[in-house]
Amino acid sequence: MNEKRILLIVTGGIAAYKSLELVRLLKRQGLSVRAVMTQSATEFVTPLSMSVMTEDQVYGHMFDLKEEREIGHIQLSRQADLVVICPATANILAKMAAGISDDLATTILLATDKPVLAVPAMNVRMWNHPATQRNLAQLRADGVHIMDPDEGAMACGEFGPGRLPEPPAIAEQICAMLGHDFDAMLTSGRSPTTVPSGVPLARPLSGQRILVTAGPTHEAIDPVRYIANRSSGRQGFAIAAAAAALGADVTLIAGPVHLATPPGVARIDVETAIDMQAAVEKALPVDAAIMVAAVADWRAAQAPEQKIKKDGGNIPALNLTENPDILASLATHTHRPRLLIGFAAETEKILEHAQAKLAKKGCDWIVANDVSGDVMGGAKNAFHIVTKDGVDSWPESAKDVIARKLMEKVADALAKG
Ligand code: CTP
Repeated sequence: MNEKRILLIVTGGIAAYKSLELVRLLKRQGLSVRAVMTQSATEFVTPLSMSVMTEDQVYGHMFDLKEEREIGHIQLSRQADLVVICPATANILAKMAAGISDDLATTILLATDKPVLAVPAMNVRMWNHPATQRNLAQLRADGVHIMDPDEGAMACGEFGPGRLPEPPAIAEQICAMLGHDFDAMLTSGRSPTTVPSGVPLARPLSGQRILVTAGPTHEAIDPVRYIANRSSGRQGFAIAAAAAALGADVTLIAGPVHLATPPGVARIDVETAIDMQAAVEKALPVDAAIMVAAVADWRAAQAPEQKIKKDGGNIPALNLTENPDILASLATHTHRPRLLIGFAAETEKILEHAQAKLAKKGCDWIVANDVSGDVMGGAKNAFHIVTKDGVDSWPESAKDVIARKLMEKVADALAKG
């Protein structure tokens, strides 16, 4: 596999000095790093030091003719597999949340279609401020991965959350997101057993083929109109990302969504339920299938080739026909996955409906979630894992955190056979 490339954006906080150590660790893991520094970051770390560590020039100026000619801001993100902001100050988080682009770093962040990991570091009061928390919630909803800061004594003499995590933990998180084996022995002499919890060292899904469906489907009414639903695809994408990070060989079949493909995931874009079913068939056999897509239950019985025109107050009838149930058809397929998981988006009687769905669809687990609030399109989710043995209810967490937990449970189940 090609060397994975990281675009590291360093912003101006006292923790910026740790970005040098982070580059050293990432390079020791066999990753390539290119750095962009904001003007204020250069007050804390010199571009020369960073350039020595990355063995590359350091980018900083939007309007540097030479830089823009040789390698423009779009090119910088295009050539990366992952964009990491470390440390990420309250200021850059606020600019990102508002979509401001007034320097090279913020312009890259607005233009990129690559996954973005922000590693915040700031004073505890700034971290706890409602404005920062509001910006973090917005960024999570926008699909930015946020690494939680450590808690402890700070350079400013206060105590609390806001400290930059230690560089080995950040390097480990980056490797997990890239699906790159993290070797703890290569990080400043620490043994694997001393690596902080939360990010598994092993890749327990290594060698397993996993299929994930995500997003809505669009069903044409005519060439310009369609039936759709509110699914954003975020939960399915987070599950595909977590599966790849745990070492699986992942195929993600995505309905129409505007989300970046997670690193290491093979993505197939589809539009309708019929297309999704064909793509699922083609991806078989797999070890596990996780059907997160909000497939439209119905499509127009006939979608004319020309746009339906208004006709003097006569309202056209919309005749619907049922779409194939992709999950149920997998349950009876000759290549039925060893572990077949359906999702149930419910607005009432969640467990009751989920239990009924488990039996009706013939799958092994139903992951039920309450979509009566702002779950669809939001950044958080709570799961009830319903199996024939009972219900395991997990508290509300960020979609990427709960995705990781689900994939760890999948890894356990596949390991048990
Ligand atoms: N699903 C599917 N194909 C369909 C409809 C649903 O594969 N045509 C899958 C979804 O991906 C999800 C599960 O079935 O994993 C449950 O979807 P849901 O829409 O909640 O179930 P329905 O059977 O459509 O039940 P209802 O809409 O009546 O709640």
